[in-house]
Amino acid sequence: MSKRSNHAIVFGASGLIGWALVDQLLNSYPTADSFSKITAVTNRPLNFSKSYWPEPDSNRPQLQLVSGINLRHGDGATLADSLKQEVEDIGSITHLYYLVFTAIEDDIEEAAVNRRMFQNVIDALGLVSPHLQFVVFPGGTRGYGIYAAGGSFSPPLNEDMVNNLPLDYAKTVVYPMYRAMLDKASQEKKWTWCEVCPDAIIGFTPNGSQFSLALHWAQYLSLYAYNHAIGPHTKESQATAVKVPFPGNTAGANSLFSPVSSDTIARFMIYASLHPETCGNGRLFNISDNETPCKYGDLWPRLARWFGLEGMGPAEDLQTGSNPLRVGELPQSLSLPLPGEYIARYRAVFEKCGCKNAASAGVGAGTGN
Ligand SMILES: NC(=O)c1ccc[n+]([C@@H]2O[C@H](COP(=O)([O-])OP(=O)(O)OC[C@H]3O[C@@H](n4cnc5c(N)ncnc54)[C@H](OP(=O)(O)O)[C@@H]3O)[C@@H](O)[C@H]2O)c1
Repeated sequence: MSKRSNHAIVFGASGLIGWALVDQLLNSYPTADSFSKITAVTNRPLNFSKSYWPEPDSNRPQLQLVSGINLRHGDGATLADSLKQEVEDIGSITHLYYLVFTAIEDDIEEAAVNRRMFQNVIDALGLVSPHLQFVVFPGGTRGYGIYAAGGSFSPPLNEDMVNNLPLDYAKTVVYPMYRAMLDKASQEKKWTWCEVCPDAIIGFTPNGSQFSLALHWAQYLSLYAYNHAIGPHTKESQATAVKVPFPGNTAGANSLFSPVSSDTIARFMIYASLHPETCGNGRLFNISDNETPCKYGDLWPRLARWFGLEGMGPAEDLQTGSNPLRVGELPQSLSLPLPGEYIARYRAVFEKCGCKNAASAGVGAGTGN
């Protein structure tokens, strides 16, 4: 098959990574002739006019948007039937980008449900897409044990560490199960696969996301600004008078993390999928925007300024006086609720102001799957 006939199918196209992946493909990354067709699959309804993807034109790959595919229902065969009915030219699919994730309170059930959904997709494409070449999915630093208090490994987190996860912890994470499933399913097949591992992902979604840090901070800081009478048209001199303490302790402010923008991870996933000889065979790639990690405490003033606020050090430092920068400039309330509680308390403000999507998503808010 010539490159021009590549056909990408993106499951989870409305999510943080999925949206950026479709956006990059529609913007002809890496080259105008890399893909001719893109099928974007979502569970919740998504109208193209509200997707913020580029409008069709003759240079852009063709896009088909298929909504209403809930991977929790049925098995590979029933999914194959639905895809055959819904997806034009399903037999020509060459690249699978799998970006679906359903958060469930019980970790063991979460791993089982997510594993089954991915298995359904692999089984379905095995039945209807004989030209499949590459499968790529994102893991996450959860796969390095970061959900266990104190973590399982000392940073820097190298790719080979994922194979030594403590057993009790490993069964709460789906990524090792994905790897085992793909290893088995790809045996004696023409396709190969890889995994890309981000820390926090910073990006956009048209209708919310289960875990968007950017959305979480935007919810918190915009509500905080609103409640302190700061708006887009407030004069700068007024705005800097409203202070917002870092919503965590000093250890949190000093902890390191390595965010990656959704565009960067999307581009890397596309690149990897077009280079099976170097990136396939189950390889894992850590990815971040910068080699040097950053600190939350350093980012906080910049995030706050975006919303017309002045970001300060952790409230505990302000109370004990150990923050040399801001003693004597205490905000009105140092006993602020945590951001999640604050958002829950004032969420109705978004509806009142006509920002419906802001009310229904964010960290831990779920997307109703
Ligand atoms: N967000 C982060 O900071 C982060 C960090 C590290 C790793 N990761 C990993 O990256 C992967 C993708 O995360 P993300 O942040 O892009 O997720 P996300 O924004 O929450 O998107 C998840 C996608 O999964 C789809 N989905 C959920 N349940 C579904 C179902 N039953 N059937 C079909 N589709 C379903 C959603 O579709 P609808 O919207 O149509 O329901 C949505 O498009 C996950 O494995 C996650 O753990 C994320």
